[in-house]
Amino acid sequence: MSVSETDKSLRVGIIGIGNIGSAHAHAIYSGEVKGMKLCALCDSDEKVSARLKEQYPDVPVFSAHTELINSKLVDAVVISTPHYYHPPIAIDAFGAGLHVLTEKPAGVDCASVKKMCEAAKKSGKAFGVMFNQRANKIFGEAKRIVSSGELGELRRVVWIITNWYRKQCYYDSGSWRATWSGEGGGVLLNQAPHNLDLWQWICGMPKTLRAECYIAKRHNIEVEDDATIFAEYENGATAVFITSTGDFPGTNRLEITGSRGKLVLEGGKLIHTKLSMDELDYRASDNDVKNPRETVEILDEKRNCHCLILENFADSILNGAPLLASGFEAINELEISNAAYLSAWQDKKIALPVNDDDFLKLLEEKQNTSSVHGVKNDSNNYSNYSSRWNTNW
Ligand SMILES: NC(=O)c1ccc[n+]([C@@H]2O[C@H](COP(=O)([O-])OP(=O)(O)OC[C@H]3O[C@@H](n4cnc5c(N)ncnc54)[C@H](O)[C@@H]3O)[C@@H](O)[C@H]2O)c1
Repeated sequence: MSVSETDKSLRVGIIGIGNIGSAHAHAIYSGEVKGMKLCALCDSDEKVSARLKEQYPDVPVFSAHTELINSKLVDAVVISTPHYYHPPIAIDAFGAGLHVLTEKPAGVDCASVKKMCEAAKKSGKAFGVMFNQRANKIFGEAKRIVSSGELGELRRVVWIITNWYRKQCYYDSGSWRATWSGEGGGVLLNQAPHNLDLWQWICGMPKTLRAECYIAKRHNIEVEDDATIFAEYENGATAVFITSTGDFPGTNRLEITGSRGKLVLEGGKLIHTKLSMDELDYRASDNDVKNPRETVEILDEKRNCHCLILENFADSILNGAPLLASGFEAINELEISNAAYLSAWQDKKIALPVNDDDFLKLLEEKQNTSSVHGVKNDSNNYSNYSSRWNTNW
């Protein structure tokens, strides 16, 4: 039987039950996610699968993703393994006729994510990505304001997103973390994808960028924990994106300036300053002409954004609702991070989309110097980490 006719819920299997996979499993199992039923679990680590059998005695547990995918127990899979595995597991799942919701980032390199998209398209199944912050009220409002043209022509984007602070014990919690072979990148690939995605979701994709990626600035790791991107848009607008896992206390402040006003998102609030007259007209006006401004504040709401993305995914399959975070859009933020790495490695400005061959060649060089060969996971429990998800952004 496929999607249950009786209770109208999607039969879901989760692959990779670590920090975030455990949270998804708990939420679905305990009925927090409308439209989803937990029907299978999979983790390649035997210690984890043994624990899962005790924790969820009525849910079948597998140790190979292919066994879960071919079990006929599920209509859809949620993939929450380390990033390198997202594309190959998704391709296997689409090949077996399953819907797929992948964790972010969709993969490490755009080339493999393109293959994932091709498999999704060929299968005709739903393809979602866990960009949970898209379900956040004030980011949705910012997107609405920019897309509607209310902000006028885009002029400048500045995002200081340095509140992704991580202690060394976080990096030490799994040997795949923060290594070129096991993870494929640092803060730009693990933490900042949410913000890179929101940036492009709200403002669109830049045309070129330059970046500095600082390797191991504050931690004992192989990859960058501090990065700054300077990007340019087709219309001349510019963007600066600063991120780090080493600043404490950090900042999360997004400013978007258009020709008709400005948005500032900080401290759980969106402040929209609206100009009466477009700046272009104001610039050309006489000295005595004023340009009064009005300020509107929109407060954030506490929402369980991970659950909202899971629910929306089920709703899109069961009832045809539009996907809030389509997997096909997940490549955009990866184009930005791949371009940022390429820019830092080649010390030059990069035009988007990136040249996949150039990126893969240099990534392979990094992988060859990596301390980890292959994605290895120690499944150490980094218990403090889950408290992070109590904050919306
Ligand atoms: N959306 C979010 O807010 C959010 C938060 C945390 C992590 N993530 C993403 O989720 C993914 C996992 O991160 P994590 O912190 O939970 O990692 P983790 O190391 O805690 O968990 C990964 C789990 O996957 C298992 N695994 C590894 N390879 C596997 C395979 N081939 N088949 C089955 N199981 C396999 C491991 O044994 C481990 O239990 C990453 O891509 C990360 O970026 C997203």
